[in-house]
Amino acid sequence: MSHLTHLGSVATGEAFVDGLFDLFRTVGQDHYDEAVSQVDHALQTAALAERDRCPDALVAACLLHDVGHLVSGPDDADAAYRDRDLRHERVGAALLARWFDREVTEPVRLHVSAKRYLITVDPGYRAGLSPSSIRSLELQGGSLSDPDRATLEAEPHLEAGLRLRRFDDGGKVVGMEVRPLDEYRPLVLGLVRAVPSR
Ligand SMILES: [Fe+2]
Repeated sequence: MSHLTHLGSVATGEAFVDGLFDLFRTVGQDHYDEAVSQVDHALQTAALAERDRCPDALVAACLLHDVGHLVSGPDDADAAYRDRDLRHERVGAALLARWFDREVTEPVRLHVSAKRYLITVDPGYRAGLSPSSIRSLELQGGSLSDPDRATLEAEPHLEAGLRLRRFDDGGKVVGMEVRPLDEYRPLVLGLVRAVPSR
């Protein structure tokens, strides 16, 4: 977990953002699923959010939503996260929470629950999921029980989490036109706190 240790202790928001972007440039080249790399997937998810005129915080959340995969370490980066549930959404949200507000971290934390929610409430949703997303769904718990669904519906950021989820599902296309990663730096930097939360 060396990336996690390093990013958890940087002194400025700028260093944090640069560290995140470095992760995308390095381990982000690993494949996200059968079709695209992690960085392609992140850029596509952010691009879909921009096309849907989402606020900057949600665009940033879309770009960074799978950062929990990137900090899981080289041994975990590929096969392990497909075969086990590493709770990457919680790892990512917790990492981001030191420098970003809930408008960024909550959609990240909720994006796996949002998949389980959509499976539960939308009969046509499963048909649009990628094979790897269906595989991970079972490890993540499958459809929601009624009490879990009610708990999730009370989450103030569920709507943003559901929007992120739809872009996440759409961001797995070979050859989609995206902006370069560096073009997102000002947007992401504009969202970091002056002082870390802890
Ligand atoms: Fe994703």
